[in-house]
Amino acid sequence: MDTEAIMDLAVTLARQKEVPADSEIYVPSADVRRALFGIDADVGTLLAAKALGYDLVIAHHPVGGKASLGILNVFERHTVNLRRAGVPKAAAEAAVRAMQAEHAPRVHATNYDHVPSYARLLGIPLMSIHNPCDEIGRRVMDETLRAHVRKRSTVADAVKALGTLPEFRKAETKIAIRMGRPGNPLGKFVVLHGAGTNGGHPVAAAAFRHGIDTVVYIHVDAGHLKRLHDEFGARGGKNLLVTGHVASDSVGINVLVRELRERGLHVACVSGVVEA
Ligand SMILES: [Fe+2]
Ligand SMILES: [Fe+2]
Repeated sequence: MDTEAIMDLAVTLARQKEVPADSEIYVPSADVRRALFGIDADVGTLLAAKALGYDLVIAHHPVGGKASLGILNVFERHTVNLRRAGVPKAAAEAAVRAMQAEHAPRVHATNYDHVPSYARLLGIPLMSIHNPCDEIGRRVMDETLRAHVRKRSTVADAVKALGTLPEFRKAETKIAIRMGRPGNPLGKFVVLHGAGTNGGHPVAAAAFRHGIDTVVYIHVDAGHLKRLHDEFGARGGKNLLVTGHVASDSVGINVLVRELRERGLHVACVSGVVEA
């Protein structure tokens, strides 16, 4: 396979029409046989790949280039996920704008060519596949919950349902109830993942204010969590499940890795991928 076919496969598995703005082929390869797939990659990863005879490094998180700079556009996927859960358009868009404004200065300051420049220098093919994997993971988590929960399910039942996924069973981290209580009714829920990064306070608050009882994030910042606690109560009726970063990223990554292996590629998983 070449790097373009690998990207196309990820996009197809995610049921997307184009390569999302946070995914990129930095250094292409026409013939990939042995790939190193990690959640993160750095210059050390490139050197390891070269030393160990891999002919491609695939990072999940963007490692520079247009993908790192383009991630703010992918935040707009939160609008899609919120709208699907019944949040009015204006409220969803305002929440996304707030997150974009908060992250824009950091994204703008990125040393976007650091890792790609070393990949070119070393002649190591390099790509990032971010949103396609996250969108696959979001769908798997959403479908798992929908398959298990009943009308009277509780938050604890949802934790148990997600725990049927091997990535969560095997991970060192446990699914955390960061807001609400295990015995609370699960109510109306939404998995808010696959949108660049977690939606912080603005996106979860937009959900809670518009009839959603339980939000599922894969990670959340402490400051944003405090703002949610201040507005909705740490142990009130609104619930926030945080499933764990690398375990949740692995849910989508593993689907792609399985498909790549089926096509004859040798793929070694590193940097936090919880293999299922
Ligand atoms: Fe991810
Ligand atoms: Fe991630």
